[in-house]
Amino acid sequence: MATARAYTNIALIKYWGKQDPQQMLPYNSSLSLTLDQFYTETKVEFLPKQTNQTADSFVFAGVAQPVSPKITRMLNLIRQAAGWSNFARVETENHVPTSAGLASSASAFAALAAAGAQAAGLQLSPRELSIFARHGSGSACRSIFGGFVVWHAGHDDQSSYAEPLLATVDFPIVVIAVLVDQRPKKVLSSAGMQQSVATSPFYPAWVQTAESGIATMSQAIAAHDIARIGQLAEANAMQMHATTLSAVPPFTYFAPMTLKIWQLVQEFRTKGLSCYITLDAGPNPKLLCAKQDAAAVVKKLQAALPQLQCTICQPGPGVAYRD
Ligand code: PMV
Repeated sequence: MATARAYTNIALIKYWGKQDPQQMLPYNSSLSLTLDQFYTETKVEFLPKQTNQTADSFVFAGVAQPVSPKITRMLNLIRQAAGWSNFARVETENHVPTSAGLASSASAFAALAAAGAQAAGLQLSPRELSIFARHGSGSACRSIFGGFVVWHAGHDDQSSYAEPLLATVDFPIVVIAVLVDQRPKKVLSSAGMQQSVATSPFYPAWVQTAESGIATMSQAIAAHDIARIGQLAEANAMQMHATTLSAVPPFTYFAPMTLKIWQLVQEFRTKGLSCYITLDAGPNPKLLCAKQDAAAVVKKLQAALPQLQCTICQPGPGVAYRD
């Protein structure tokens, strides 16, 4: 039995498009920041053969749920590596201080891979663990590590892994998670990616710019240049979203409120408040700024849109185990 905790991450250079959906190999490398405010804690127990459990079981927030194919897939990978066939009991909780509107699949599959591997007695390196996590959800491979993390696209199972770029973030960057809509997204990221890859005439340009964005973003991080990190992240997010608007048929993850916030962020900048926006496969924006500006950004945002819930996140740690 083992329990692991993993934090969610926000991609500054995004993963968008699977080169090999079976192996979960992306077309482009991606770069993220792990956040400290939202995590998943998962306990995995492999049951002795003599128990009469005849399948895996899954309890989410104290309630029994069906075991999803992705969970089964992850447990099978672990069983295969351990040479076991025992069924598992998985218990998981998401910890969200205020509803942050952050995707939970990254923290969920990082925690499941780590707890599962530990419970099965596998001695995996963090890199190997990131490869396991990738099979649950691409972005999960980055949540194995804290701070700034790169996921190398690679060309096969073993070459597609995450590694820390800067594990201890010693400069004051924060991410403000803004909640505009808590409903599940209409187009799941896998389906959205597939549509962009198959139909957007801009998709090849996306892969090229995202790939070269890794080097530019790494330089901005090395220089501790928060404004440059923000500019590059905002540009990359809009380039990703351009592949959805240019898909056939077109679609978007923007809600009217998302656009409103983007406009406000641009207005803040003209008034000297340095702040940038990024957005994943859903309408909830994440704003990047320096820690000393975060309170002013939240105040201005809530002055314009009083109903908005904002959570200020700092760089978070990598996966950890609990007894
Ligand atoms: O890991 P998935 O399959 O949920 O895809 C994540 C895709 C984005 O969040 C939009 C970008 C990213 O790199 O996290």
